[in-house]
Amino acid sequence: MAAELSPIDKAKFVAAKRAVDFVEGGMKVGLGTGSTAAWMVRCLGERVREEGLKILGVPTSSRTAELARKVGIPITSLDDAKWLDLTIDGADEFDSHLNLIKGGGAALLQEKIVATASDQMIVIADAAKEVAQLGAFPLPVEVIPFGWQTTKALIEETLVSLDVLGRDCTLRMNGQTPLVTDEANYIVDLHLTRIGNPRQLALVLNQIPGVVENGLFIDICDIVVIGHGDGRVTVRDINSGDDHDDRVDLAPGDNIFADMKE
Ligand code: A5P
Repeated sequence: MAAELSPIDKAKFVAAKRAVDFVEGGMKVGLGTGSTAAWMVRCLGERVREEGLKILGVPTSSRTAELARKVGIPITSLDDAKWLDLTIDGADEFDSHLNLIKGGGAALLQEKIVATASDQMIVIADAAKEVAQLGAFPLPVEVIPFGWQTTKALIEETLVSLDVLGRDCTLRMNGQTPLVTDEANYIVDLHLTRIGNPRQLALVLNQIPGVVENGLFIDICDIVVIGHGDGRVTVRDINSGDDHDDRVDLAPGDNIFADMKE
C-alpha cells in the first residue's frame, strides 16, 4: 500500500519521518501547518502512541491542533509553554541560507511566532522547494481587514523602490469571499517572481500600517530535511555546515498515511 504513495507524497513523508527523529522525550515541540507538516504530526503521533514518547506540542493553526489531538499528541498554547525546544514545519521555498517563504497555507503568523520562540527550527520539504533565489512562490503577507485595500496599495507603492521583479498583489480568496486566517486577518499574495534582498523586504513590509506579518523567514531555520521520491533524505544544517544523505525505509504499516487530505 505504501507503494501507492505518489513520489511527491513519498518525498514529504520521508522528510517528515526523518525529522521526527530529532524529537526527544520531555521536549516542547512547535507543530507546523501544511501538507508536509501534517505528515510530521502523524509520524510524531505514532512515536507518542507506540514508544510512549512524552512531549508537549504547540500547534501553529487550528487545523494542526485538530490533527494533533486526533493522533494523540498532547498540546498546549505557546503562552503556556513559553519557550520551545524545537519547531518542525514545512515551507513553500527555501534558499541556500535556509531563508524561507512560508504562508501558502495561510498560517504564517502563528508559524513565525512559534518558530521564533524555539531553540531550533527544522524545515521539512520535498526537493522542489529548494530555489536559488526566493520569490517564484507568491509571498504571503497577513494584513488586518480594516482598510486592506489601502494597505495593499501601500505595499504596491513600497515595492516600486525595492529589488523585486514583479509587483502584482492579490487578495487571497476562499471562493467568493476573502480568506480569513486563524487570527481573523486577510492574506495579500505578492507576485514578485524574484526577491533580490529578502532581509530588506521583510523589514520594510512590516513597517507598513495594516501589515501584521510577512511570510519571509530570515535566519530562523537551522536545519532542512529534504525528502526525495526514492526514499532518500538530505539533512542540511546551516550552523554546522553538515550536509548528508540518509535513507528512510517505508514499512508496510505506513499505508495508514495514504488517506491524508492535508
Ligand atoms: C502554511 O501556512 C505554510 O507555511 C506551509 O508550511 C507551507 O505552505 C508548506 O506547505 P506544504 O507542506 O503543504 O507544501
